[in-house]
Formats: sequence, C-alpha cells, structure tokens
Amino acid sequence: MRHTPQGNPQNPVPQLTAMEHARVISRVLGSPILKGPIIRRPKAVNLAERLNLDSAGVDELKQLRAKYGSGPVQLQLFPGRRVAILLDPDDVHRVLNDTPDPFSPASMEKRGALNHFQPSGVLVSNPQQRQQRRSFNEAALEAGQTVHSHAETMTRAIREEVDALRGHLDFTETLAWEAFSQMWWRIVRRITLGDSARDDTQVTNDLNDLRARGNLSYLMPKKRTQRRRFLTTLRRYVEQAEPGSLAAMAASVPATDKAVTEQQMPQWLFAFDAASWAAFRALSLLTAAPGTAAIARDEAETSFPDLPQLRAVMLESLRLWPTTPMILREARETTVWRNCTLDAGTSVLIFAPFFHRDDETLPEAHRFAPELWLQDRDDTNWPLVPFSGGPGFCPGRNVVLLTASVVLAEMLQHHDFAADPTAAEPLDLQNLPGTLSPFSSRFAVHRR
Ligand code: HEM
Repeated sequence: MRHTPQGNPQNPVPQLTAMEHARVISRVLGSPILKGPIIRRPKAVNLAERLNLDSAGVDELKQLRAKYGSGPVQLQLFPGRRVAILLDPDDVHRVLNDTPDPFSPASMEKRGALNHFQPSGVLVSNPQQRQQRRSFNEAALEAGQTVHSHAETMTRAIREEVDALRGHLDFTETLAWEAFSQMWWRIVRRITLGDSARDDTQVTNDLNDLRARGNLSYLMPKKRTQRRRFLTTLRRYVEQAEPGSLAAMAASVPATDKAVTEQQMPQWLFAFDAASWAAFRALSLLTAAPGTAAIARDEAETSFPDLPQLRAVMLESLRLWPTTPMILREARETTVWRNCTLDAGTSVLIFAPFFHRDDETLPEAHRFAPELWLQDRDDTNWPLVPFSGGPGFCPGRNVVLLTASVVLAEMLQHHDFAADPTAAEPLDLQNLPGTLSPFSSRFAVHRR
C-alpha cells in the first residue's frame, strides 16, 4: 500500500494530540527505554517479551500514518525538546544520507548517555571532530571489506572459545544465556583487545557499570574515576598492540589527536553486546527453521570464513528484533519536507521496528525470510536499517557479521541445537513475535 503525505511544505509539522503523545511515549518509546537503551536490563526484556511490547509500538505508528499520511509528525518530549517521527522509508534514506549535515548523529539524548564512557566517541562528535574519528573507525574496522584482514586471528580465537564451551554442552545438554554470554565476551575481548584480555573481566565490568549509568543519561552523575581507569586500560591495550587484534589496528592506523583513539574503542566493545543478543536469537531461528542448520554446515565446509547464509540469518535476526531500535538525529538547520517544515534543533527519530515489521508495505514483515538479504535489491526504497545507512552507517558491520557467523558455524559443527522443550511456546516462523528475549532462551543440545 502506498501512503501519501498530506499538507504542503509550507505547513508546520503535524503535532500529535495529547492522547497521541501519551500513546507514543508509552507504546513506542516506552519499550526501548524500559529495556535499557545502552545496556539491556534482562528482566525488563523478558517482561517486554511476555507483554509483546514492541509490536504495540509498530501498531501505534501505523495508526499515526493512517491519520496523518506518511510525512513526519512531531511530539514534544518536554518543553523545548521536539521530536519528529519519520513514517516513510524515503524520509529515512534522506536523513541517513544527509548525515552529519544537516542531520547530526550527536543528538542531545546520545551525548547524555554516551558521555558516561566515551565523551570523544565518533557518535557524539561535532562535524569537524567527526570527520577524523569516522575515518579512523572505518580504517581500523576495515568497514568496506567483507572479511577483515585479521580474520585468521579472529577465527582462531572463536574456535578456541567454542571448543572450551563444548565440555559444558556435552555435560549439561543445554545451552542458556549465561554460558553463551561468558564465551562471547571472552571472544570479544580477544578480538578487540588481544588474547591477553581473555579474562580481563574488570575492563568489561567497568564498561557495563558506566553503560548502566548511561541508561539514565543526564540523570546520573559521571563516575570520572572509573571512566579514567577504563579508558587508561584501553590505551594500555593499544600500546600493547597484540598482533591480530583490533587494538593493533588502532595502533597502526594513522590518527590525529582529534581521533582520540582509545575513546573510539568503547563503542567497539559495547556494540558487540548487541551482537550477542542477535546471535543467540539467530540460533533460535536456526533451530526453528528445518534444514537451515544443515545449509549452514555445508557452507562452512566450502566458503569459510565468509558465510553468506549464516550472515543472512544474523541480518534477519536483526531485522526482526533490531538491537538499535531508535536511530536518532538532530536537525542542525530548518528542513523542508513534502508535508511540512521542521525547525532547526528538532530531534528526528527513526523507529527501526516500524520499518522492519510494517506488514502494510513488507509482505515478509513477521516471517523468517533470510532470502531478503541474499537477493539483489533496489537500495533506494529498502526500508531495513539494522546497521543504519548513509555516511553514518555502522563501520563494524562486517566485523560483527564475520564474528557472529563464525561463532554460529563453530557451534553447529559438533552439536545439534533444538528449542528447549520446556519453553512456553515454540517459535512460529510464519508469525514471529515482536520481542524475543535472548536472556530467557534455552536450547537442548546433543552431540552430533
Ligand atoms: C549486531 C551488532 C551491531 C549493530 C546492530 C550495530 C548497529 C549500528 C547502528 C544502527 C549504528 C548507527 C547508530 C546511530 O546512527 O545512532 C552504529 C554505529 C556504529 N557502530 Fe555499530 N552495530 C553493531 C556492532 C558494532 C561493532 C561490533 C562495532 C565495532 C567493532 C561497531 C562500530 C560502530 C561505530 C564505530 C559506530 C559509529 C559510527 C558513526 O557514528 O559514524 N558496531 N552501529
């Protein structure tokens, strides 16, 4: 169905009514804020799953589009803070493509949250600083390369850590979140900081404490001593530059003072957390979809470590349950749209679940459709943005898809996974839920 905007560019942006404000705040913004925007609160994610909170947000935005058309609509979060909500994929592309000017990623909300642990991170930088920090990130993460040049060291770390998990799998014949997450973080510390960081739980505990403060943004005072300790540790790993690690990349990529190398790295570590939720959900999809595990095993025999089928399952997990549900920009100048004009200073919200699960425009909205990611496509009207898009797209996309697909391939090699028979309901691949909590997922495991 094609939705057309109403009004004309000279009009002020449509303002939501008081009742719509209440509904959008509770049904759209409520779930990501409750679950934790910077670090997830497992109990809240489990609750969101039980109450199917994320589907409510998608329904709410469909209702707004039916009433106002597909142009942006605006709500007032608090006095002086206006947020325009996008309802059309064309507008999403415009905002992402016109990043960082006039649509800056460094929104007030992001600065409040991320300043707790990376005040000089690329995401919260002004346009001049951004240029250098962005180039640094792209170079270190080799953003344009499907397989990172450190893949050999990365896959060795993954193989060793999955091997170390096998005893647990054989003994307990189950896999739950705790064991998976512990393995995942060992891998992430090795890939990012070097093998010697495998058991450095202090560095991730510090980061997690600071992220928990980030969840409450400006409401929490900064813990500067802990932040200094955390960033000093990262600097030490860069100086060590263990061969094959991302820290070694950070040490070797030419960077100006403005790039503040170690302050780009918290994003690398913390964003790998999102990948762990997505990978565990991908395992749920793989176990529910007959034949996909076998396809993945075949692929691992022939095209390791570039595994397009497993990457597609990961991407599908991220489409169905986006780990960055709210992509925020701040308009630095007045902007003119098809139906209205938006003032400078307005925040612009792309609510990814709405575009990924819009069954009025995407026939595959609620079903498992990895083929979406394997076929040629027309990117101009592509509404799926798990890694954002345009000049601010996620430069870690390829590193993360490599890591997660290789972890899944290694896990599937010697074991069969099935949905835990004690789980409330098996996944219905034709009608997938709006929320899937990785924290309460469990698998029955058998050696092959
Ligand atoms: C499943 C895992 C991940 C997902 C879904 C993801 C998604 C995203 C998204 C949506 C953004 C844009 C955020 C915004 O504009 O507000 C972003 C930015 C970024 N991501 Fe990722 N990311 C993931 C993992 C990673 C990893 C593992 C790394 C590094 C190793 C990484 C590095 C970055 C960086 C540096 C930025 C900032 C880019 C900029 O502002 O120019 N990401 N990511």
